[in-house]
Amino acid sequence: MQRVNIFDTTLRDGEQSAGVSLNPYEKLEIAKQLEKLGVDIMEAGFPASSKGDFHAVKEIAGQIRSLSVTGLARSVQGDIDAAWEALKEGAYPRIHLFLATSDIHMQYKLKMTPQQVIETAVASVHYASQLFPVIQWSAEDACRTKLPFLAEIVERVISAGATVINIPDTVGYISPAEYGKIFSYLKENVPNIHKAVLSAHCHDDLGMATSNSLAAIQHGAGQVECTVNGIGERAGNASLEEIAVSLHIRKDYYRAETAIKLEEIKKSSDLVGKLTGMVVPPNKAVVGRNAFAHESGIHQDGVLKEKTTYEIITPQLVGVNENSLVLGKHSGRHAFGKKLMELGFDLQKEELNQLFSIFKKLSEKKKEFSDEDITALVFDEKFSN
Ligand code: KIV
Ligand code: ZN
Repeated sequence: MQRVNIFDTTLRDGEQSAGVSLNPYEKLEIAKQLEKLGVDIMEAGFPASSKGDFHAVKEIAGQIRSLSVTGLARSVQGDIDAAWEALKEGAYPRIHLFLATSDIHMQYKLKMTPQQVIETAVASVHYASQLFPVIQWSAEDACRTKLPFLAEIVERVISAGATVINIPDTVGYISPAEYGKIFSYLKENVPNIHKAVLSAHCHDDLGMATSNSLAAIQHGAGQVECTVNGIGERAGNASLEEIAVSLHIRKDYYRAETAIKLEEIKKSSDLVGKLTGMVVPPNKAVVGRNAFAHESGIHQDGVLKEKTTYEIITPQLVGVNENSLVLGKHSGRHAFGKKLMELGFDLQKEELNQLFSIFKKLSEKKKEFSDEDITALVFDEKFSN
């Protein structure tokens, strides 16, 4: 079984979501939860971007001792110095350097020739290696970069001292088969590739971020970058919970595993949703409110007979507390009414009585009712006609 490192960037790329701004206390609270979640590397921010982010990264590096805390830096000495000041007290300091490599970015954004881009990247890695024990280098917009040039620059930064090479799909453009081929190409065309861990970093503009990350793992990526709830620039980053749970549920297929403590997923999702204000859509895979709710009669019936008919993930696997008040065939009208109130349903007495008698009939067949079961029951009866 291949072990894949989870590089969490909720506090950096995730915080780049439009409208999200976390203060240093909020960032620290999320960082502590990410540590409990079992991420391997945590990108705490972009130290040169603001004083607030610098202090947040420094505080997190000082307090999170069981894993590597990293920070983003452009390929300039000022950014590298700021990152070192913020990260040097960390348990396992790592810098994350990046420079764009696609023609579009080099021509219009950087206004640099490919040769200048190579020289700048190599110089930044050399400079950073005098300070940091681990250097991660990212080819921004790698997926729209000409492959021979990508291979050339990757070889050069590895020779300069980078030991983690990240291949971002910066604009969420690639498809899984194509992304896999880039990893295979680099393995075949970069002589010193064995000296580095390859990393995937996917954005979700075309809804492919999780699939692309999984394809990268199948083609040799030893690290995937992702965020809790998939928050991030524009349509977001690959979702940590989707990748970790996919690898777990389909270990027969992917033959890869992470160190994520799956039972901490719901708590992490709730915290990130609360502090960023980015509400998780109800139908979001793994952590959405409806992820375990079976609404249609056929599905409800199937699940009542045997859960695995329609449920590939149990709520408990990801730490969803199915019920504070467990309803079953011995529950009375009162408990049933209370549960409906807890779930946010404000019903008339007649509606409540009608639902209760339906519930009672169902409870002859099913031992316990989860919140999702009760919600599905109400929706089925009230809104399905
Ligand atoms: O999407 C991207 O290219 C990035 C890099 C800075 C790694 O976030
Ligand atoms: Zn990104």
